[in-house]
Amino acid sequence: MVTIIINGVRREIQSPADTPLLYVLRNDLDLSGPQFGCGLAQCGSCSVLLEGKEIRSCITPLSAASGKEVTTLEGLGARWAQQRGLSKAEAERTLHPVQEAWIEEQTPLCGLCQNGMMIKATELLESVANPTVAQIKEAFTTSGPSAHLCRCGSYTAIIEAVQRAAMVMAKGGK
Ligand code: FES
Ligand code: FES
Repeated sequence: MVTIIINGVRREIQSPADTPLLYVLRNDLDLSGPQFGCGLAQCGSCSVLLEGKEIRSCITPLSAASGKEVTTLEGLGARWAQQRGLSKAEAERTLHPVQEAWIEEQTPLCGLCQNGMMIKATELLESVANPTVAQIKEAFTTSGPSAHLCRCGSYTAIIEAVQRAAMVMAKGGK
């Protein structure tokens, strides 16, 4: 048994410790935000935050998350609410500025890659408040094990959404 803290809640997982974290999230915990794209750490669609850092959950064994904090797309709103010190009731009605920006900019096309894009954007904006276009491109291309791939070509909209989210976060919310 492996214990992980998933979106702020401690969960005991019965799956074998070498099970890919992605399978645990989707199959054991019904968290369908992280997507199975390549299964080889080559696309980014399965990304989650592990202790605040983006990882590819398709190649990460459950054991690597033992006792650690995992944030999925479903937990971004609560993560932002906690960072702003909002109440539990407010947190339940809160989306992360990254999620809001993705909606405002109508960023997704087919949507398969967008989980990883939002997770990467969150990681970036938690460390760089007002990233340049070059820093955004670097985050999505060379900073991880592979570039985050979008087969639909939504890259321009992603850059615009990151910039919108940065502006909102700088103001502390809407
Ligand atoms: S499914 Fe994990 S990187 Fe592609
Ligand atoms: S929106 Fe279709 S793969 Fe990115």
